[in-house]
Amino acid sequence: MQILLIGAGAREDALAWKIQNSSLFDQGQGKLYTWPKAYSLIKGTQKLDLAANARLEQLADKALELKIDLTICGPEAPLADGIKEAFEDKGLKLFGPSKGAAKLESSKVFAKNLMKEAQIPTADFLVAGDRGECFSYAKEFFEEDGKVVLKADGLASGKGVFVCQSIKEIEEGLDSLYSNSFSHACDKVLVERCLLGRECSHFTIINKHTESFLGFAVDFKRAFSGDKGPNTGGMGCYTPVPWLPANAHSLVMDQVIVPLKNALKNKGMSYEGFLYVGLMWTDSGPMVIEFNVRLGDPEAQVLAVYDSKDWLELIMRESIQHDKPVSDGASKAVAVVMASNHYPYPSKPSQEKETIPLSTLIEKPETQVFAAAVAAGLEGEVTPLAGRVFTVVAKSPSFSGAREQALSHCQKISKFWTASRWREDIAQLAAEEEC
Ligand code: AMP
Ligand code: GLY
Repeated sequence: MQILLIGAGAREDALAWKIQNSSLFDQGQGKLYTWPKAYSLIKGTQKLDLAANARLEQLADKALELKIDLTICGPEAPLADGIKEAFEDKGLKLFGPSKGAAKLESSKVFAKNLMKEAQIPTADFLVAGDRGECFSYAKEFFEEDGKVVLKADGLASGKGVFVCQSIKEIEEGLDSLYSNSFSHACDKVLVERCLLGRECSHFTIINKHTESFLGFAVDFKRAFSGDKGPNTGGMGCYTPVPWLPANAHSLVMDQVIVPLKNALKNKGMSYEGFLYVGLMWTDSGPMVIEFNVRLGDPEAQVLAVYDSKDWLELIMRESIQHDKPVSDGASKAVAVVMASNHYPYPSKPSQEKETIPLSTLIEKPETQVFAAAVAAGLEGEVTPLAGRVFTVVAKSPSFSGAREQALSHCQKISKFWTASRWREDIAQLAAEEEC
């Protein structure tokens, strides 16, 4: 079987690792192509010979030429641009939603209207067309609740959401939303009531007729320990989520996923792909904060290690359905992201290149490292670049054990990569609560 995996993050490294360990992927005969990045830590993959800025049609042509049997799309942007249609037009199979269904992530207004129609529990909201309207709606909610949330409608790389606790913060949020850098995502702005509860996310692989549950995870979005600093793509996460009720998955299925699939069907759309439901778990149960048409990063990494199910089988065999993650003995997993020391602020590339021996990265079977931004170094070494570079995932019978293992592995890597940083408090509360 020939598979093409699209995406350049550590999330896609984790997917490549799952594919290579699948019973459906024959290591001898099968080939795993990747685009746009080469994978340095996952052996036996081959980067597609195509520029990173190629058009979707060129990518589909290349896939046709290489007789790719299945393409799996990791990130949301190509899905929002219609990669499914570009591939299907050429008779190629791509796992991921259509451009229409990808609007669940690419348009927050589309997602909220659909939730309202399908009676999926979510925060009350209003849609504003301009800054004046947005301010008056925000003031109305703020005066009633003491808080309000403003959100750009379109994709804004996680930077288009403002949780405001004063009129000053509303004004600052509006300044950012209506500045030039966001204008593409702000033809409409959502004004939402603020939800109270604990946040977590729910992940599934959805096929035409079945859904398989991969697990719940909690991620740590702020840059620094103690939930300080700006929002990032995610600095770490843990799974499972011990503070959820035992029937949490069936509540999400009944109240969110089944009505969502029905509402899409009523619009003539089916959903196929990964689905990530961001939730606030409130006193009255799950409330949806957002839908993403992909897996999370670093949630995919922690779930890939924790859940020993064969994900490629779940993607390809449409008759299979699972309603729980399967862990082999170790019942907790923690992921810690190692980033370059300026992240998330921009920095000049370092003059001094540091290199890490592969043997340090790939050390123990219960501690798995996935890479995003690395360059190949000399034989047996890699050079970390900038941003969120590695995700270190450890599993253990306890959160405290998994935390210790992941953090001590970060320490070891940092002996070679001194210009790195990570959060020390990932899953700390979960570890304290298990005592
Ligand atoms: P989103 O991009 O929609 O996931 O929002 C980013 C973050 O903003 C979420 O992870 C929450 O922490 C927060 N947030 C978004 N919407 C709400 C809401 N209605 N109530 C409380 N917090 C929210
Ligand atoms: N870790 C959050 C996300 O992938 O959106």
